[in-house]
Amino acid sequence: MTDRPEIESLLAEQRTFPPVEDAVHVRGMDAYRAMHREALADPGTFWGRVARELVWTRPFTRVVGRPPPAVTWFEDGETNLCWNALDRHVAAGRGDRTAIVWEGEPGEVVAWSYRRLLEETCRFASVLRSLGVRRGDRVAIYLPMVPEAAAAMLACARIGAVHTVIFGGFSAPAVRGRVEDAEACVVVTADGGWRRGKEVALKPAVDEAVEGLACVRHVLVVRRTGTPVAWTPGRDRWWHEERAHASADVAAESLPAEHPLFILYTSGTTGRPKGILHTTGGYMVGVHATARWVFDLRDGDVHWCTADVGWVTGHSYVVYGPLLAGVTTLMYEGAPTHPEPDRFWSIVARHRVRVFYTAPTAIRAFMRLGDAWPARHDLSSLRLLGSVGEPINPEAWAWYHRTIGRDRCPIVDTWWQTETGMILVSPLPGATPTRPGSATLPLPGIDVAVVDAKGRDVPAGHGGLLVVRKPWPAMMRTLWRDDARHREVYWDRFSTPGAPVYLTGDGAVVDPADGYLRILGRVDDVLNVSGHRLSTMEVESAIVAHPAVAEAACVARPDATTGEAVCAFVTLKQGRLPDEATRGSIRAAVEHAIGRFARPADVRFTDALPKTRSGKIMRRLLRDVAAGREVVGDTSTLEDYSVLARLREEDE
Ligand code: PRX
Repeated sequence: MTDRPEIESLLAEQRTFPPVEDAVHVRGMDAYRAMHREALADPGTFWGRVARELVWTRPFTRVVGRPPPAVTWFEDGETNLCWNALDRHVAAGRGDRTAIVWEGEPGEVVAWSYRRLLEETCRFASVLRSLGVRRGDRVAIYLPMVPEAAAAMLACARIGAVHTVIFGGFSAPAVRGRVEDAEACVVVTADGGWRRGKEVALKPAVDEAVEGLACVRHVLVVRRTGTPVAWTPGRDRWWHEERAHASADVAAESLPAEHPLFILYTSGTTGRPKGILHTTGGYMVGVHATARWVFDLRDGDVHWCTADVGWVTGHSYVVYGPLLAGVTTLMYEGAPTHPEPDRFWSIVARHRVRVFYTAPTAIRAFMRLGDAWPARHDLSSLRLLGSVGEPINPEAWAWYHRTIGRDRCPIVDTWWQTETGMILVSPLPGATPTRPGSATLPLPGIDVAVVDAKGRDVPAGHGGLLVVRKPWPAMMRTLWRDDARHREVYWDRFSTPGAPVYLTGDGAVVDPADGYLRILGRVDDVLNVSGHRLSTMEVESAIVAHPAVAEAACVARPDATTGEAVCAFVTLKQGRLPDEATRGSIRAAVEHAIGRFARPADVRFTDALPKTRSGKIMRRLLRDVAAGREVVGDTSTLEDYSVLARLREEDE
């Protein structure tokens, strides 16, 4: 890790920005430290108090239950996440407040009050039930960013069905793999959605994905674009037709805290995505607490997290977190730069957005587009800015602070993962002085450490592996139907009896001066392209399925906009030509297998891949080559690296 140049620049960044004085949730460093101390020393009291801010149909008597990996929280309690996110506000007289403001890419604006969102959610729940969905059944949701996506998720939570949301950018084979693994009985989709002025067709992808899958009994289709779609009578149902006679009043089920809430597939180091399983009570409490602490949410806030609901950020901080807090969550359907590069800033101005939470990739892209675009808009409504998904370089941080925040808004650089369910490391706007490029300190109760390959603490200032040593409520419970992999990937490496250690897969360094954490990125073969998680193996298996390809190895290389980009080294079968057409069809094969966002930025043909004597591909070497740290003029030179690779075998 120490060979990474970004560490030097991060360590050189020492400017700090003071916390704000008008925070409502955590005010001052002393308050944060007191919370952190208590949460570490007495998690039962601390998290029990937080949990009681929400409504439990059956009170829990134990807060921290079994230790990880088979962790439980609030295990004898019962609650309903949907009830807490919707009915609780309506019951308290807040039903007229706006729950969701939605803007379609073509420009339509729809606002749903909490009462309306509750009704729509109940209708979804009622339709899902009429389609045979019962407690514990899985429902796949493959929708554009429309309010129905939130209602469908909430409806599952209401009746105890388990949602698995699949990002609309995934291709049919990727959808199929997920639907099949989860054994979803219903797929909720739309005819299509709008992106960059074009329709992204979803229903045709679902038709291809579920063909011959016995588990899928129904496909529920939201009409969004109005484009005609193929129809399988009996299986397919229009949402608007079902909705017309659906009940707007469906009781929320009292569910055990450990009842499964959702499965979200994410990339690991193999070709097969992992189904991260989250459960009801702990996830609800963790997301409720962190949304309020980190974004300092208050009545009347319009909170805009730009993530798609298909990613964990969309689950926790587009849907559940803001709704639990009773604020307005903004959803935007389309591309950030459509029809002009100022679309985001016009949305901020139009809807008086207070909290804006996005990914460094987007920030870097906007930075490149120039200051004139944001300058055209009144951004004075903004109170707080957030960043998530990948390390943010100090230059982008500083631009965000100055050009979007106009030097007034704190930036929360939030570190977390699909697996963690909630933010674990982030500044708190009223407590933590911020510094460009630093995610700063763990949230209350989060016991992070940086360790070496043997699990020993490394001294501050040295890079190491980021681990978490105490459980937190929203942590993943297991991998869907693969608990052995769950233990092996996350727990086995450093845990000892009585002392579980969660391995994050990220590298980090602690600043010797103040203990601030800097996240350095993944230490495994997981890539982060534009904040989208991908495994090199997934991309490789898509490439080797191409008829011309003999072998392939993918690595990440730094990219000024997307953070990382996929660089594929490919050897072709004998007689196949390394030409542009082959390159194009290899990229198309990846798009077909996974989705457009996964297409390699570079496809480099080589006569051989550098391997160790035991046949292991020398990825570190390829990373150096991809990043231009080692000069290769043409394909044949890479072959010479095989020799070098063998010489370097000891280092790998
Ligand atoms: O490498 C870290 C990076 O994103 C990974 C998690 O990806 P995913 O599960 O898709 O969730 C993304 C949104 C929570 C992490 O292992 N990552 C996330 N946030 C940050 C980050 N890297 C640096 N700084 C962050 N703030």
